[in-house]
Amino acid sequence: MDQPRHVPVLLDRVLELFAPALSGKPAVVVDTTLGMGGHSDALLSAHPELTLIGLDRDPQAIEMAGKRLARHGDRVHLVNVTYDHIDEAVQDLGFPKVDGVLMDLGVSSLQLDEEERGFAYSKDAPLDMRMSKGTGMTAADVLNTYSHGDLARILSTYGEERFAGKIASAVLREREKEPFTNSGRLVELLYAAVPAASRRTGGHPAKRTFQALRIEVNGELESLRLALPAALGVLGVGGRIVVESYQSLEDRMVKQALAELAKSKTPPGLPVELPGHGPEVKLLTRGAELANEQEIEDNPRAAPVRLRAAERIGAPR
Ligand SMILES: C[S@@+](CC[C@H](N)C(=O)[O-])C[C@H]1O[C@@H](n2cnc3c(N)ncnc32)[C@H](O)[C@@H]1O
Repeated sequence: MDQPRHVPVLLDRVLELFAPALSGKPAVVVDTTLGMGGHSDALLSAHPELTLIGLDRDPQAIEMAGKRLARHGDRVHLVNVTYDHIDEAVQDLGFPKVDGVLMDLGVSSLQLDEEERGFAYSKDAPLDMRMSKGTGMTAADVLNTYSHGDLARILSTYGEERFAGKIASAVLREREKEPFTNSGRLVELLYAAVPAASRRTGGHPAKRTFQALRIEVNGELESLRLALPAALGVLGVGGRIVVESYQSLEDRMVKQALAELAKSKTPPGLPVELPGHGPEVKLLTRGAELANEQEIEDNPRAAPVRLRAAERIGAPR
């Protein structure tokens, strides 16, 4: 029943990285981005004694994945929260520590496929983009109310858009005539604002602006900034964390969070590690791992993925 676009990204590698922490014991994993439950389903099937805690901010993901995972019975606990609440979710279920944390960031194929949620620039749809359906500001609210400076800042920072100032000016001019409601009008504006020459290297002229709006609407980087230490905090010694990012700002945050804990805090020059000052984690990936050509061909959503993983080797300092 699965179509290729619903195949979980880097599934075999994710299973391989988690195996040493989960095999042959009653382990617990938190899938912080349950989505359609693809990774979770495979983990539960591979490890018959595994208990899985699935988090997602999107109530529809919880409902759909719930149906898919029902065959695993009471080994599955699903919670509709943002992933920065991972520690409360784990504690409320009565688990002191967990053996694995998976973060497969970004939007799901389900969200992209649902035209009326406004994530895709290829369809004219309401400018919504909220992952937690129905709560908070929409992409249209951002376009219709932010100052020139704020719009230019989010387009440049979250979208890495070179023409952020020019686009922000065009948005302010257009919204004077009529507020934005649908993506079609924004895409038209972007075709006019982004020089044709830059499309050859930069891809679709709407790509970076849509990414920036989505990150802003969902507070994605703030949520990740809070979630990384919380996720590393619930991981027991020997437990493993695997993170799949789809854009460079997220990947940078993940890289820095893991690198910081992989460092020794013993002052340089001392012959032995001071107690409680050793590295907390060991990196399991050298740099970021990418999908290979075959996977990208089979599943284009895998093209931008950057995977990083680590194992907790010492208690939190
Ligand atoms: C790429 S999909 C996950 C796909 C999943 N691994 C699978 O195999 O089906 C990302 C999911 O993370 C959720 N998500 C994004 N940001 C979140 C956050 N801050 N907290 C919780 N869930 C989040 C989205 O709603 C989406 O369902």
